[in-house]
Amino acid sequence: MVMPMRSSQAREGLPPSPTPQPGERSAPERVRRRFRDRAQQFDDLYEDERPLARLLRPGLLRRRNLAVETVRQYPAPRVLDVGCGSGRIGEFMLDAGAGHYVGVDFSEPMIDLARARLERFAGRVELLLEDFLRAPLEGPFEVLLALGLFDYLPQPHHFTRRMFSLCAPGGCVVGSFPSFSPVKGPVRKVRYEWIGDCPIFNYSRRELELMFGASGFAPVEIRSPGRSGYLLRAYKQ
Ligand SMILES: C[S@@+](CC[C@H](N)C(=O)[O-])C[C@H]1O[C@@H](n2cnc3c(N)ncnc32)[C@H](O)[C@@H]1O
Repeated sequence: MVMPMRSSQAREGLPPSPTPQPGERSAPERVRRRFRDRAQQFDDLYEDERPLARLLRPGLLRRRNLAVETVRQYPAPRVLDVGCGSGRIGEFMLDAGAGHYVGVDFSEPMIDLARARLERFAGRVELLLEDFLRAPLEGPFEVLLALGLFDYLPQPHHFTRRMFSLCAPGGCVVGSFPSFSPVKGPVRKVRYEWIGDCPIFNYSRRELELMFGASGFAPVEIRSPGRSGYLLRAYKQ
């Protein structure tokens, strides 16, 4: 049986969410609502074989491949998937030899999809319906995943710090990050922020180096595979 979700639990010493203006929803609440309303639509992207879809989303495959390659480098690693979504990557992690897989996501429909998808890996899977910054997690983990997550984080350094504290010595974070492209950047801003009411953030290579470096990770390896943004592997010594 895939483990049930746990109840919300504030952790001592963790930062509060950014304060919204009066009458505004906070950024994390807007993100959560998007992935609550569009969980199935997001999940379907992985099945979309149309050439245009493949062309627009080369990153999905690349980030998954880096995650698989990384998990295979450790013997039966404990894997923490932050913003695990519908468990699409989790399935590959477990097939690639993850000894234990913990997926955290604050969208209930996403966790429901992940639970159904990962049912066959009974006993090796734990799924938590939580905001990562407040989730009751016990490390250490050899591999932490942050795939397609940082796009939506107004305070990303809180996430990198918590990831560092949960990472095993010799372990690493595998992340994917959007960069701003002159063509795709404005389109995404309009589609997500103006139409979809969902905040979206981009990163530069330097910002990623500084953010992960300041949280304690070294070395921080960054690849820029063309239009699909950055892929990163950041290690804890
Ligand atoms: C674009 S999806 C990526 C899902 C998955 N990592 C993948 O690559 O298929 C981003 C996910 O991050 C989750 N998320 C965003 N902020 C989060 C937070 N603070 N805590 C937990 N989950 C979060 C969203 O609910 C959403 O399911």
